[in-house]
Amino acid sequence: MRDCTLNFIRSPSLQSSLLHCVSVSPLKEYKTKTRSAILLINAGQLLTLRPTRQATGPRRGPDLRELGIINDGAVLCIGGKIVSVGTTKDALRDPWIRKHRKQLTEIDCASKVVTPGFVDSHTHPVFVRPRLVDFEKRIEGASYEQIAAAGGGISSSLQAVRNASTAALTDKVLAALKDMAAHGTTTVEAKSGYGLTLESELKSLEAIRKAASAWPGTVVSTLLGAHVVPKEFQHCSQKYVEIVCKEMIPRAARRSLAQFVDVFCDKGAFTPEETEQIFAAAQEHGLSVRAHMGQLSETLLAPFLRFDPASFDHLDHVNDDDVKRLAMRNTVATLVPGANYFLGLKTYPDARRFIDAGVPVALATDYNPGTSPTISMPMAMSLACTQMKMSPAEAIAAATINGAWALRMADRKGSIEPGKDADLAVFDIDDYREIPYWFGANHCSLAVFNGVLETRG
Ligand code: NIG
Ligand code: FE
Repeated sequence: MRDCTLNFIRSPSLQSSLLHCVSVSPLKEYKTKTRSAILLINAGQLLTLRPTRQATGPRRGPDLRELGIINDGAVLCIGGKIVSVGTTKDALRDPWIRKHRKQLTEIDCASKVVTPGFVDSHTHPVFVRPRLVDFEKRIEGASYEQIAAAGGGISSSLQAVRNASTAALTDKVLAALKDMAAHGTTTVEAKSGYGLTLESELKSLEAIRKAASAWPGTVVSTLLGAHVVPKEFQHCSQKYVEIVCKEMIPRAARRSLAQFVDVFCDKGAFTPEETEQIFAAAQEHGLSVRAHMGQLSETLLAPFLRFDPASFDHLDHVNDDDVKRLAMRNTVATLVPGANYFLGLKTYPDARRFIDAGVPVALATDYNPGTSPTISMPMAMSLACTQMKMSPAEAIAAATINGAWALRMADRKGSIEPGKDADLAVFDIDDYREIPYWFGANHCSLAVFNGVLETRG
């Protein structure tokens, strides 16, 4: 067994770590911040996603199918970190565990599947209400672009966010985070982008920060001041770009309100030249970049690579040369099939083309009120399997370890390995393939967030 030598616990120094009392609270409440010492045993399938022999960066090609499954698996977590991973037999033979077993919070995972907590690397949770008129118009045949041109779309979400208090936005974000958690997501990237004034973008980022502090999982924030050009600047978009570059980015960076800067680079949003300008400002202020690319139309990716983007997202339209370029880099292609599903599109991003070419692929929900009102990573995975022909194993790797790479957090997240953050999801199913199979259902019964255990109440 790769993760076990003589003892289940490999690091003796951890044996002296503090053991806290048992503390379990319902997934919807999150009152508890106690990090228990937790021992999960008897897992029918423990999906470790431990490194393959080849992989040094994000998973690509055949490596995406290597889940590192341990049957009858066990995991020990202490102080918010994973300490040991192996078989239940080895865990229960371990002298330290035998001595301290009564002090551990022991979870019997018989007939259950344990995965790394999902990493949802693309969400837009700071909005006030759903866009039901857009929804009906689209059912009647209007396209996303037609609705946006007629005053619906992103612009129609702005006023409510501008008027909302930070507390009201915080409540919205926290509610979304709790729903995500209930579906097995333990790490979330959250974007601003529905205020589009200096004040309301900073307020949105503050709401993300406040909600994150009330949630046991991990939140990564992204400034998406460049979501669309607000109508006040319709005929002078350069002035708005200046506000993004000279006011929003420096202020967000100074106050450490964002780790990333995102741009919606497409028809009806920002041009490639404007995107480069915004990326350069982000770089100047020490923020990493990511972008919505090729959602509605093809944009050449090559000019942006010098900014070393963590991820390009959507990629419905991309040319062969750019696919080859991505195959040579660690920039992740984050596919968000929920948007295609909800917009009723006949086509989906060509996941097989990316995977077969060696491009690292992640999956995310793209949770937002316009194109993808779902918080469910299992739903995104189901769509990836049925509509994009990813195998269930590829979908799991794309939703965990490659999501972590897309957030530049693969050293801490996305796999069940000693030393990584204790982020786990437990599903009441016999086989991991049931996660995408039972579409629209939620079989996650329990999750661990940085060592904090929450059950589904
Ligand atoms: O990822 N494309 C840009 N942003 C979102 C949609 C936002 C909206 O319509 O509210 C997306 O699809
Ligand atoms: Fe998006």
